[in-house]
Amino acid sequence: MVAERSDAFVFFGATGDLAFKQIFPALLGLIRDDGFDVPIIGVARSGDLESLQERARQSVAAAGAVDSGAIETLTSRLRYVKGSDDDVETFHALRRELGASQHPLHYLAIPPALFAEVVTNLAASGCAAGARVILEKPFGRDLASAIALNATVHEVFDEPAIFRIDHYLGKEPVQNLLYFRFANSFNEPLWNRDHVASVQVNMPEAFDVADRGAFYDRAGAIRDVVQNHLLQVVSLLAMEAPSGTTPEAVRNEQFKVLDSIRAVTPKDVVRGQYRGYRSVNGVAPDSTVETFAALRLHVDTWRWGGVPFYIRTGKSLPVTATEVLVEMKPPPQSVFGEAEPPDADYFRFRLAPDMSISLGGRAKKPGEAMVGESVELYASHESGTERPPYQRLIGDAAKGDQSLFGREDAVEAAWRVVDGILDDRTPLHEYEPGTWGPDAAAAVLAHGDRWHDPAVPAPAATVTAPEAPTAAVTAPAVQAAPGALGAAPTPAAVP
Ligand code: BG6
Repeated sequence: MVAERSDAFVFFGATGDLAFKQIFPALLGLIRDDGFDVPIIGVARSGDLESLQERARQSVAAAGAVDSGAIETLTSRLRYVKGSDDDVETFHALRRELGASQHPLHYLAIPPALFAEVVTNLAASGCAAGARVILEKPFGRDLASAIALNATVHEVFDEPAIFRIDHYLGKEPVQNLLYFRFANSFNEPLWNRDHVASVQVNMPEAFDVADRGAFYDRAGAIRDVVQNHLLQVVSLLAMEAPSGTTPEAVRNEQFKVLDSIRAVTPKDVVRGQYRGYRSVNGVAPDSTVETFAALRLHVDTWRWGGVPFYIRTGKSLPVTATEVLVEMKPPPQSVFGEAEPPDADYFRFRLAPDMSISLGGRAKKPGEAMVGESVELYASHESGTERPPYQRLIGDAAKGDQSLFGREDAVEAAWRVVDGILDDRTPLHEYEPGTWGPDAAAAVLAHGDRWHDPAVPAPAATVTAPEAPTAAVTAPAVQAAPGALGAAPTPAAVP
């Protein structure tokens, strides 16, 4: 097991999309904020050091970076190894470039189909000794390939040296789900099948597949975001309290949730594809890959027996947002003779693009009659000081901290959940771009439930929290939506 800090950073796929959008800005942030002071070696098939440095400059400029000192440090640290993943000579050249480094951190920002070959070549060239490895998602293509890949990677790296990255786990609002649940005593009596009617996680994206056609057409929504990001969110919502304060205590409970979710069957999923997807560059003209998925999950635990958990995500939907809605059961009796309106009691966690927590309830309207209206207690947070997820996660991996990475058993458990609905096992429904996906998505809902469409992001003026340098919702500002408790703006009323 490697205890030392990584002393070099190597990234495969250095000229790729992920490196451009995420890795260069993350490295810049690490240099600027965390004193990340190691050689940085890019490996790619084409180009040279100069073109890689130029790409790094363009990448961080596109991400809005202005700190010229840090940018200069980043480009001066860059090294370049040209070669291909299936040529062991490339890896010998890498070992030479690593020089005195004994504990490199290798980031495989390449398609998962290439992982096994790269890992094997890292071992054959001596680059794996004392090293750590970060593996991008999706980890494998299905349960069988994930098991096989884990076995191959384990031939070279021990589990403590393997970092299966899922950037959702590095997001502040996602970590806040864990924090909020277990830092507040009022949650526990409510957070179970006696009081919760249903839970849904919505992740609509307003953009289309654009220039990622070739990647996306080998993945689809279920492999791209459900098996990883959204099941991680579900695991944090449904887990038991960790029995201890070690990172493993949290990962143990996340695994238990994933392990307890029933394998999804075709009747509990609806797949969709937006009209026009097949003409995207890199997409097969007869592609049956889904750009939309709606699922119903059964979490077979004592706490959650009978409570439906829904997931819905898609490209070319009306908004880009990620939201959790925990809907509570109605009161046992109607004391005021009012018909219980739908969606009166809920917790809503807005994870993106803004971060907020709302509690929806009923309050009396002023007047003689005992008549109420729906109101929302709303706390939001915006600071802009959080570490972006990739920066946080690469920094953690360099220290050997696995808390926010997928463990072997959990990744396999998540594949088991979706394994029976991958590829063409279920029909594909076409939908118009800009809509909420195919109407058929209603079919996965239990009687009386409905989809809660996240609203458009709140205008900046409605953000109520003062700048808070630390993570999570620390805002003292708790306000009510228009109604009996006050007249604060509500950014996202349940539609
Ligand atoms: C990536 C997926 O992992 O996550 C993308 O490949 C998706 O398709 C993205 O758009 C969403 O991440 P975020 O951080 O923008 O919500």
